Amino acid sequence: MQIRRLVLRGFRNYRELDFSVAGQLCLLLGENAQGKTSLLEAIYCAATGRSFRASLDEELIAWNSREADIRCLVEKDLGEAEIEIQLSRGRNKRIRVNGQLVRRHSDLFGHLNVVTFTPDDLQLVKGSPAGRRRFLDIELAQVSGTYRHDLLNYHHILRQRNSLLKSMAEGRENRETREALAMWDEQLVRCGSRVMWKRTEAVAKLAAIGRHFHGEITNGAEELTICYRPFYEKAVPPTTSPASPAEIETAFRAALARLQPVEIRRGQTMVGPQRDDIDFLIDRRPVRIYGSQGQQRTAVLAGKLAEVDFMREETNEYPVLLLDDVMSELDQQRRQFFLQSVTGRVQTFITATSQAYFPEPFLQKAQVATIKAGSLEV
Ligand SMILES: Nc1ncnc2c1ncn2[C@@H]1O[C@H](COP(=O)(O)OP(=O)(O)OP(=O)(O)O)[C@@H](O)[C@H]1O
Ligand SMILES: [Mg+2]
Repeated sequence: MQIRRLVLRGFRNYRELDFSVAGQLCLLLGENAQGKTSLLEAIYCAATGRSFRASLDEELIAWNSREADIRCLVEKDLGEAEIEIQLSRGRNKRIRVNGQLVRRHSDLFGHLNVVTFTPDDLQLVKGSPAGRRRFLDIELAQVSGTYRHDLLNYHHILRQRNSLLKSMAEGRENRETREALAMWDEQLVRCGSRVMWKRTEAVAKLAAIGRHFHGEITNGAEELTICYRPFYEKAVPPTTSPASPAEIETAFRAALARLQPVEIRRGQTMVGPQRDDIDFLIDRRPVRIYGSQGQQRTAVLAGKLAEVDFMREETNEYPVLLLDDVMSELDQQRRQFFLQSVTGRVQTFITATSQAYFPEPFLQKAQVATIKAGSLEV
């Protein structure tokens, strides 16, 4: 899929922008604080309904404006889609696809798929498990409606179960609450196991593609292993990798039986995919603990490239790649490899403060736009 046009009004430091995107490669150049990241953020927002850096929608609205508007025209193998996101102070955002109001914001997924790479993505290997789960969830939510549905449902079950456990911890433990808990247990295990099986399959695919890219970047000197670590598997790397949905369900039930007394005492769910993790290992050692800066970056890079190919496999279309300030972090060989591997395959938006990071043949193929104080010169 490709973005053909992006229109912004009152978004971050963009008062008005009407950007016609030509072709596969778009280079967004500009000094610091001109609006490069904001432009990628607007595209990401059109794809997912939220920002990759703001915690509140209000932060996205220009300071002197009451509302912000993003319109994004996407061309796909099977026709076009126009996505519109309207943000307004003190009101929920409105999302429309081809003029139709989207009621649940997860229904926006799938119309425009994106993979991002920002300096913050180093957190994927360095940061907390929550960030890695989010990476997996966003990726899977973009390609699978069933996953979106199961995940939403799972979080609903989790909230209900937690509030029941809390009331039991506060002394309301009787036949009625125990029966209700048994019902939530069953739903938790069934729905949670479906989420976990999807994650298992996705990580296995990512691992195979990621290993390939990583081998190319490091010229075969290092081996990247990405593995899914279900919540009930504490060892790094996991000693067992779940091989079937039934295996996951059995392990889930066993963990639940073991931990339920603790759950009732603490008033909180202690089992389930909200405690999963993904391990990134180089030569069988955790990158988070032993990896150098360069190794951590390379591992994330390989993971992101794997994500692109994974999405293509799942949806038959390449996603759009958004690369924020990624060149300055890579040495020349890695930069070269990276540009080669995206050029011509995936529509790519790359921001940079200088054109000097890019080799001449690359510049000739690209649409080069300069951003200055929220305006764009193409
Ligand atoms: N809600 C907002 N309204 C108006 N301006 C904003 C808003 N939020 C951020 N800005 C400003 O927009 C400008 C552009 O920010 P952005 O992060 O897009 O810059 P950038 O070009 O990516 O810079 P850098 O190279 O430093 O990463 C900054 O000056 C920022 O303070
Ligand atoms: Mg920036």
